[in-house]
Amino acid sequence: MPSLKAYNTFGVDVDAKEIQIIQRADDLLALNGSPEDYFILGGGSNMLLTQGIDKIVLKNEIKGIEVLQENDEGVVLQIGGGENWHETVLWCIDKGYAGFENLSLIPGTVGAAPIQNIGAYGVEIKDFILGVHAYDLQEKKAVIFNKQSCQFAYRDSIFKQAAHKGRFFISSIVVRLSKDVFQVNTDYGAIQLVLDHLKVDVPTITDVSNAVISIRQAKLPDPAEIGNSGSFFKNPVVSADKYERIQEKYEKVPSYPIGDQYKIPAGWLIEQCGWKGKRVGHTGNYEKQALIIVNYGEATGQEIYEHARNVRASVAQKFDIDLEFEVNII
Ligand code: EPU
Repeated sequence: MPSLKAYNTFGVDVDAKEIQIIQRADDLLALNGSPEDYFILGGGSNMLLTQGIDKIVLKNEIKGIEVLQENDEGVVLQIGGGENWHETVLWCIDKGYAGFENLSLIPGTVGAAPIQNIGAYGVEIKDFILGVHAYDLQEKKAVIFNKQSCQFAYRDSIFKQAAHKGRFFISSIVVRLSKDVFQVNTDYGAIQLVLDHLKVDVPTITDVSNAVISIRQAKLPDPAEIGNSGSFFKNPVVSADKYERIQEKYEKVPSYPIGDQYKIPAGWLIEQCGWKGKRVGHTGNYEKQALIIVNYGEATGQEIYEHARNVRASVAQKFDIDLEFEVNII
């Protein structure tokens, strides 16, 4: 049975029944099992494998970027789901296509990006999506989702919902990027700080990408060096009431208002519970970002999962906030 260790960024060593590489959308037409027989895999950068996968793993390696439309203002691209996300971002920057620069250095594949609506530094992939091409393993036919039917929300989409999980293999995405008139998004404080430090007054998309890369490299562990899946939890949104009670005790609690509620960084809550940089066996919370759970090398998925539940329980106890997993637990 083939090992999945090299196929998940946590570096957890479990086996699959079989791994089948999908290189062309047409390869999918030959699959005649039901969705339960398969497990769809992109870059394996947003999942924790707590057990082996007794299914046929379909590894998305559909490549290619095609220009569907182009004029002076912008470009519409169709990008293969198996393309590496960051390489795609760099390709777009090189061509002068603006939009993805804030999403530089996010691990994973293009096909996985819409599933959890990847986001960073004030930008989400939903801002650019026109459509998602997928293969429906249940109905055994190709389908196209327009942006609205993807039901994008914070780290969420229709593809992540329980009723549809594992049903749609994303063969490509269609996005619109700007060419001529565009505004770089440097609202996120840290980006502006880096640009100021480099004395960049009028940033190009390359400058913004470089700033994002340096911020990420300083804060987030490289999965090639230390196993992880980025943020393990979502940032919770709490009522004004709850927020004020926390603020009474912790004057400096960071927060972002969302309507009449408040989003509080889960990393801050976890740090307050004493987990930042704390190692437990082969796992623990990253020293520079408490929201990230790491594998020091030999951890099993079960061990990491148990640690994550302990972290969650301590946040619930101290703050009465139930953190939601951002990573898919398999
Ligand atoms: N903070 C702490 N201690 C920590 C970590 C964070 O106090 O250990 C506080 C600080 O006040 C900091 C604030 O939290 O200013 C926000 O931290 P950061 O800028 O690192 O962002 P985040 O909210 O922790 C989110 C995303 C990241 C994304 C960054 C930048 C989620 C779950 N995570 O993290 O996404 O890169 O914003 O936009 O929304 C991912 O999804 O895997 C991911 C890395």
